[in-house]
Parts: sequence; structure tokens; C-alpha cells
Amino acid sequence: MEKIILDCDPGHDDAIAILLAAGNPNIDLLGITTVSGNHNVENTTRNALSVCTAYGIKVPVAKGSPVPIISDQVLAIEIHGDTGLDGPVLPPASFELDKRHGVDFIIDTVMAHEPKTVTLVPVGPYTNIALAARKEPRIVERVKKVVAMGGSYTRGNITPAAEYNIYGDPEAADVVFRAGWDVTMVGLDLTHQALATPELQDRVRAVGGPISQFILDIWKFIATTHGGLLQIEHPAVHDACCVAALIDPSVFTTEKADIRVETAGRWTKGMTVCNFEKMGGMRHFGGTASEQMSFRHSVAMQLDHAKFCDLIVDALERLTGR
Ligand code: BDR
Ligand code: CA
Repeated sequence: MEKIILDCDPGHDDAIAILLAAGNPNIDLLGITTVSGNHNVENTTRNALSVCTAYGIKVPVAKGSPVPIISDQVLAIEIHGDTGLDGPVLPPASFELDKRHGVDFIIDTVMAHEPKTVTLVPVGPYTNIALAARKEPRIVERVKKVVAMGGSYTRGNITPAAEYNIYGDPEAADVVFRAGWDVTMVGLDLTHQALATPELQDRVRAVGGPISQFILDIWKFIATTHGGLLQIEHPAVHDACCVAALIDPSVFTTEKADIRVETAGRWTKGMTVCNFEKMGGMRHFGGTASEQMSFRHSVAMQLDHAKFCDLIVDALERLTGR
């Protein structure tokens, strides 16, 4: 059983990540923390609470950071709409937020559990994770690992070079990649393989019920913005890929790399620069000797789409059967 904290900005694909985490028996969802990203933190928090209310997901939800650490805020309204989750109709939230700030929830939860038992899963800008690591550095040693949606070794989506979650708070991403913990980068190279194909949508439709309809409504809305702005053939189910890998690590392959984040750059702010171990280690970054040669990050490479779809449908069936 993987104990996780899902740090998110729902967000259409964030909502599916919540459902997958809540619907799989191998995931122990310790809590949800919210961050500003796809929309402001008021809306992403309301959306998280509404999803949990609608589908009986009883976990703590803690509101996190309202703005990036240093960079200006960049919302993704053009992708996720005016509410941050346009399209599906959700009920108002009927339970209360955790009293703690999201950053404190992360620290308290990690410190309250045995070392190396809690995995952090950031799927919005990494503001909360970076602030938690700065406020309580002991969590860096204590967490099991970080499995993060964001970045890319090929292309961006908000700029040619940068993926949105990294661009949304590059300084936070820089902190997270340099902290020294085990980070898996689940970037666009991987998540653009995690498409809601017509076949997957048919399988979800066949399950029936309100959660099935919710997921279909998500994909109906996001197809318009992904197709229009990003020219992706079918909706990309980005954030759920991180949860899927914690349920079944064979859902994607990884390669070792040393990843650095561009926090500035005329054209490249928010870019994740990947030095793959297989490149031979000759093309190192500057810095200390240990920094130059430590390939301590993993990069998600090749998705097993059939396995991924099975996990989504399985979680949906379990949640629907409750
Ligand atoms: C990421 O940006 C957000 O819009 C999605 O929820 C995902 O986390 C993809 O670039
Ligand atoms: Ca997200």
C-alpha cells in the first residue's frame, strides 16, 4: 500500500488523479493539498472539496499556497475554464477544510509517519512542496519519494520550452529538483501518451453512473481546449499518470537523469534540462563534483497505455460499486 499526499490544482486531469487515488486499494490517500495553478487557490480548493463531496471521498483537504514563491502567477484558465473545472456540474462542498495550511499539512503528515513511508505527488506547480522542504528540511530525508507531474525533455506546452507546472513556479521546481530526494519527473513526453482515446471513453461510458459521466464531461470539455490550443488528438490525462505508477510501477519505464530547471532565460524559463545517464555522463552541468555526476532523478519515458486504461476503469468500477 502506497501512502501518498496528492498536491494538486483541480483542474480536469487533477480530478481524475483524485478519483484514481481514492478508487484503488493499493493507494492510501493521506490527504489532498491544493495550490494555485490551473486557477486561483480558492477555486482549486473548492473544486477539490466538491469532487470529494460528490463521490464520497473522505480525506483531509488542506488549502495551500495562493501564489508562486517568486515568479508572477500564471493561471491556466484558457485550458481549464473560468472555474478551473469548467464543463462538469459539481455539488457545493459539504465538508470543511483541514484547519492547517497545505504546507503544514504536508510537514505534519510526513513527520507523523515512519521514515520512507510517505510519497509526495505534486501535480500542480510545486509551490507547497518547495515551501514544505524549506520550512522543515527533515522531510527531504523522511519522504519515500516524490512522483511529480511536470516538465519534459522534448517540448513544452505553455511555451515551446516549458511545461505548465514548472513554468507556473520555476523557483519551486528548482528547489524540488535540487533538494536531494528521489524525484520521478512525469513530464509531457509521458503524459501525451496517456490520452483518453475513444476506446477508453467507451469503456468509461460502459460503466455508467455519475462518476462515469463526470469523467466523460471532463474529457468533453478538455478535448476542446487541448485540441484547439495544444493540438493534442485526444484529451491528455496528465496527472493520473503519477498515481498510476504508484499503483503499478510497470505502467511506465524510466531512465536515470540529472534534471535542472531554468529559472530564467530569454526563451527557456521553466524548461527542465535533462542530462540522461545514458548520454555517458560527459555532458555534465557545472557545480560541485557530486552535483555534476549524480543522476538522482528518474524520467518517465514509455507508457503502457493498455495498463493505464485498465487502472482508470478499475478505479471507476470500484468507486461506482460503493
Ligand atoms: C499540467 O498542467 C495542468 O494544466 C494539468 O492539470 C497538468 O498538471 C500539464 O501541463
Ligand atoms: Ca494539475
